[in-house]
Amino acid sequence: MDAFDVAQLVPGFRPPLQAKDAGDKEALAVADKATRRWRSALPGRLDPGSERHRIETCRMFRDTFNPYRPAVLDWPVLAPDALARIVSLPIWDIAVQTEGKARLRMAAYAATVLDPDMRDALALNAWEEHRHKQVLSRMVAAYGIALAPEPPQALPRDPEWAYLVTGYSECIDSFFAFGLFELARRSGLFPQALVDTFEPVMQEECRHILLFANWAGWHRARLSLWRRLRFECKVAAAWAFLAWERIGMARGIDAAPARDNNFTLNGAQAVSSDDVKLSALLALCLEENARRFAGYDERLLRPTTVPRLVRLAIRVTRLFRTNISNKAV
Ligand SMILES: [Fe+2]
Ligand SMILES: [Fe+2]
Repeated sequence: MDAFDVAQLVPGFRPPLQAKDAGDKEALAVADKATRRWRSALPGRLDPGSERHRIETCRMFRDTFNPYRPAVLDWPVLAPDALARIVSLPIWDIAVQTEGKARLRMAAYAATVLDPDMRDALALNAWEEHRHKQVLSRMVAAYGIALAPEPPQALPRDPEWAYLVTGYSECIDSFFAFGLFELARRSGLFPQALVDTFEPVMQEECRHILLFANWAGWHRARLSLWRRLRFECKVAAAWAFLAWERIGMARGIDAAPARDNNFTLNGAQAVSSDDVKLSALLALCLEENARRFAGYDERLLRPTTVPRLVRLAIRVTRLFRTNISNKAV
């Protein structure tokens, strides 16, 4: 395992306690439930930017922490065809590298946050990305998946920009990953035990983008007009960068192996069969996104851009199809 340590980048960060061993199963089951549902005990509104909003956002992130330990996760013995399917998925290099990049960028930005509560929440997020990397590293080792050497990663020069790109990238990729994960589960192409092992990681990504959406709402509400304008320009540039990156990947012109997270695009080809229509896959992503967020206090902000765009895409496609069939009649 590599020696990444959030506390080296975020002084004062103390790693959370993890389950001791596989015998902690009962405690883990309780924690798994707690990770999916959370409601603030405070009555009334949680206005973005307010103290209450910040305190409750950070409390949500702490309370929903799942103490699973990668070292004791089960890696089921796979039948030869399932093993071959998993080994051949073209996502492992990028998935491991993406987690490595996310942990570094999140820790780098957390170190710049003055509010101790929010700094700690973002540092814990970085720590959880490190844990995702450990989960993936153990999985590739268990199944004999060869990884390309990881390029060295430097600290970002602009930690806020790097955090925005990582956060919005997670908002895009998690949305599609939720649907793909459910599609994979339903398809039966992947053993149930393996799906169960990855389930906490999937829900953890939901918590991450919930934290990110609330950090963004809290942060922007506290900026002066000029700093707010500058921030919104950065946000727009981050979206443009991610759109450009994904269009590049979709066209297959981006040959670089270690761009930001292209897990979803590659994963889509791997778990969809020919008879899965894009519109059905998008509807499933929307459904799963809503299901995973349903357990969290509705007064907290949610990532909304990707679900809105996908709803719009579904509506436009339907309209287009109706027009075509009307013309055909
Ligand atoms: Fe992650
Ligand atoms: Fe994440």
